[in-house]
Amino acid sequence: MKNIADQTDHAGLLKGGHDDRAAQDFAFTLRNIVTSDLMPANRVVYDRRVAPAFRRATGAAPATPAQVRQGMGADSWYKFYLSARRTSQELIWSSVIPAVERGTPTAPTAPAGGSVTLAPADFVPPRYISAIDIHCMPGGYCADRGDGDEAAGAVYDRGVYLYMSGLMGPMNDAVGQLAARWLQSRLPGFAPANILDLGCGVGHSTLAYAGVWPDAELHGLDCGAALLRYGHRRAEALGVPVHFQQGDAEHTPYPDASFDLVTSHIVLHETSTRALPAILKECHRLLKPGGVMLHIDQPRFDDSDPYATFLQENETYYNNEPFWRQYRRIDLAAVAEKAGFATDAIDSDILSAAVVQQSQNNEKAAPDAAARKRGFSVLLARKSA
Ligand SMILES: C[S@@+](CC[C@H](N)C(=O)[O-])C[C@H]1O[C@@H](n2cnc3c(N)ncnc32)[C@H](O)[C@@H]1O
Repeated sequence: MKNIADQTDHAGLLKGGHDDRAAQDFAFTLRNIVTSDLMPANRVVYDRRVAPAFRRATGAAPATPAQVRQGMGADSWYKFYLSARRTSQELIWSSVIPAVERGTPTAPTAPAGGSVTLAPADFVPPRYISAIDIHCMPGGYCADRGDGDEAAGAVYDRGVYLYMSGLMGPMNDAVGQLAARWLQSRLPGFAPANILDLGCGVGHSTLAYAGVWPDAELHGLDCGAALLRYGHRRAEALGVPVHFQQGDAEHTPYPDASFDLVTSHIVLHETSTRALPAILKECHRLLKPGGVMLHIDQPRFDDSDPYATFLQENETYYNNEPFWRQYRRIDLAAVAEKAGFATDAIDSDILSAAVVQQSQNNEKAAPDAAARKRGFSVLLARKSA
């Protein structure tokens, strides 16, 4: 198991003192027990108790995620698991917040040359982000107390490290590394002069691109002001110049044909049926001719396995991820085509890594086709030259 001490220190990170770390260690360990031990036991309960009872009552095994949910919902072990899961999630945030409230971040010693630009005062973040505390993070992504407030960013940075059991790596950047390195191998000659990361949060994935294309100018856009202020401090402290901008990925402030590469990482599943096509259209508008769009996120549901889908849908039912369920049924290539990309310029793949297993509710990754369907899915599209 990873350790809470392994997260890379930097000027913005507020891990707190001894008592904070003890509380964070407890939350981290409980989360690991829930995902690594309790969660897999659901399958045993399902196979040995729930499915046979459902079969006896109805004459057939559960055939849909809804039928699996109906059977599991009545089982006392599953109810215990759900309550432990939700409690461990809430404990993550409550173990992190006191250190952030008390802490004072330090200034980076040598500025890296990035910037942060907030939207005009009348900016309204999209309701699918502002109306709900996604992943149960108190206040959500858009919490902002003004005047240099960075709290949402500091809470997110430490909280995600604990939440993902450290599997995102010491820099919380496993998904960005996965995407950037996949793109580099897929398009070996591609060397973007500038890159825009939509829904960049505190820049976890954005910074990974500096390792692959060190000469590229990096931009990150998000709707959360406090995330961006913190992201700016973090990027400067880590010596990577990034230009952060507050805005809505559906209609950004950049002119047409501004970027060689427009990306997003684990963002689209948090948007909405209406917003997602608008974001892909915006990507098309923002790209220079020949430019590349790259999104990495959860894969489509494997409809041949109703139990796996049922388990995944728990993110919507119990972790404040309203769009997760619907997102995973969308044909992204078809949406990209409607956004203006030519059919033969659209490519996709499924990528695996340790972080994927955690994100997929610890479904064990066997080296077979079914496991491949459970990696992270990448959508690549190139604008006509
Ligand atoms: C799960 S976080 C991922 C953050 C980051 N991409 C990463 O890899 O660490 C999703 C982010 O998308 C942002 N987001 C979602 N919809 C957005 C939109 N329409 N405009 C701007 N940001 C958005 C949220 O504010 C949040 O920071």
